[in-house]
Amino acid sequence: MNPQRNNQMNKDFVLAVEGLTVSFDGFKAVDDLSFYVDENEIRVIIGPNGAGKTTVLDLICGRTKATDGSIKFKDRELTTMKEHEIVRAGVGRKFQNPSIYEDLTVFENLEISYPKGRSVLGALTFRRDAAVKERVREIAETIFLAGQLDQRAEYLSHGQKQWLEIGMLLIQDPELLMLDEPVAGMSVSERKKTAELLNTIIKNRSVIVIEHDMKFVEDIAHKVTVLHQGKVLSEGTMAKVQADPKVIEVYLGH
Ligand SMILES: Nc1ncnc2c1ncn2[C@@H]1O[C@H](COP(=O)(O)OP(=O)(O)O)[C@@H](O)[C@H]1O
Ligand SMILES: [Mg+2]
Repeated sequence: MNPQRNNQMNKDFVLAVEGLTVSFDGFKAVDDLSFYVDENEIRVIIGPNGAGKTTVLDLICGRTKATDGSIKFKDRELTTMKEHEIVRAGVGRKFQNPSIYEDLTVFENLEISYPKGRSVLGALTFRRDAAVKERVREIAETIFLAGQLDQRAEYLSHGQKQWLEIGMLLIQDPELLMLDEPVAGMSVSERKKTAELLNTIIKNRSVIVIEHDMKFVEDIAHKVTVLHQGKVLSEGTMAKVQADPKVIEVYLGH
């Protein structure tokens, strides 16, 4: 084993992806990919369309099964676990389109996402004990919706819906949160607030974000991984990858 990799393995990464590969009918959408995410890190994955970004999140959350390689989340191997087991292990994932309940209020959307709400009695009938209410309020504050708790989700703006869905993941307190293009379709001020939101929630977790908006990436990224054809093209600080001629050639120059 090469000493550098060995060295990395000895460190306490929240997530260690190594040699990850997935083939779809012989086409390698993710190809021998390795990267490591630290505690309290915001990692942004960028890259051209079709680079494999969404597929990487699909692999981590168990939606897609790896052909080869390993995904270690705090020393637990995720590639052999089922999707719901991965959620329970502490990995939350937001998809590109918000999946909130339009006909429920903001409060109710958060409440049914509270882990204890998933009882045999059914998500909607469980007791609204003080602890749940308190937690819902706390999350609502974080996602800028404290004043909208009684509003039905269908009346929220597009940006507010995205925040609500982030809140529905946060209430489960994931140690790793993954967001696929969270600011797509948001206004400039909503983007700023989303950056603020991510910088707040990072205190207790790590976040992986897929994003195209380079201004937003600059506001949040601790480290950037540039994907191209299922492989890491470049990795490092925003300044480093922005100055990398390979990145300019395949992505930023377009
Ligand atoms: N389930 C699948 N079956 C076949 N091909 C897929 C599947 N999922 C993704 N792909 C292909 O893998 C490549 C990477 O896709 P994706 O991860 O969505 O890229 P990105 O999110 O970077 O735009 C694309 O060529 C896409 O068509
Ligand atoms: Mg994608």
